[in-house]
Amino acid sequence: GVRNVAVVVGSLRKGSFNRMAAGALAELAPSSLRLSIIEIGQLPLYDQDEDAEPPAAWTAFRAQIKAADAVLFVTPEYNRSVPGVLKNAIDVGSRPYGQSAWAGKPAAVMSVSPGAVGGFGANHHLRQSLVFLDMPVLQQPEAYVGGAGNLFDEAGKLKNEGTQKFFKSFIDAFAAWIERTAL
Ligand code: FNR
Repeated sequence: GVRNVAVVVGSLRKGSFNRMAAGALAELAPSSLRLSIIEIGQLPLYDQDEDAEPPAAWTAFRAQIKAADAVLFVTPEYNRSVPGVLKNAIDVGSRPYGQSAWAGKPAAVMSVSPGAVGGFGANHHLRQSLVFLDMPVLQQPEAYVGGAGNLFDEAGKLKNEGTQKFFKSFIDAFAAWIERTAL
């Protein structure tokens, strides 16, 4: 059957290269996957004092993640780590204690940066959280996408065939990984 993949993008910027990359992955995905971006910019900062009466945006987000079969993270690197907005979404989804929306769901991580290092630091800091969240994470191919300023045309589409092929291999590997590891 079709697997629903929640796509979480770690940038709120309108012209985000990461959002473009997420769109490219959705276009290249096999028909066995349905990718939908789950927005995170509206989530109030996580505050344990609000666990008893959580904001509606937290509850809706947790339900969207729970409804997905798998999660694809596409994130920039901020100061060699994960943007705060993404870490906030991870924290919101992980609570209340014992009811984490992430638990056990297959995951994959792509980092995208205009820089040469391709967001390696963010990619691996994110993986540290995913270990604790008990999400089986796709290991290969790793996806550190550098030079993002040159990869997309004005419509936000991938310009070169080599990158398209790489994105395709990544999303195909994730589809196979989901079949092996889905709950
Ligand atoms: C950055 N940027 C950045 N890039 C990088 O490769 N490593 C880094 O550590 C950082 N640090 C950083 C911190 C902050 C606060 C900002 C705003 C930016 C640059 C970043 O990769 C660039 O702005 C990307 O375009 C962000 O991704 P989106 O928004 O295009 O998806």
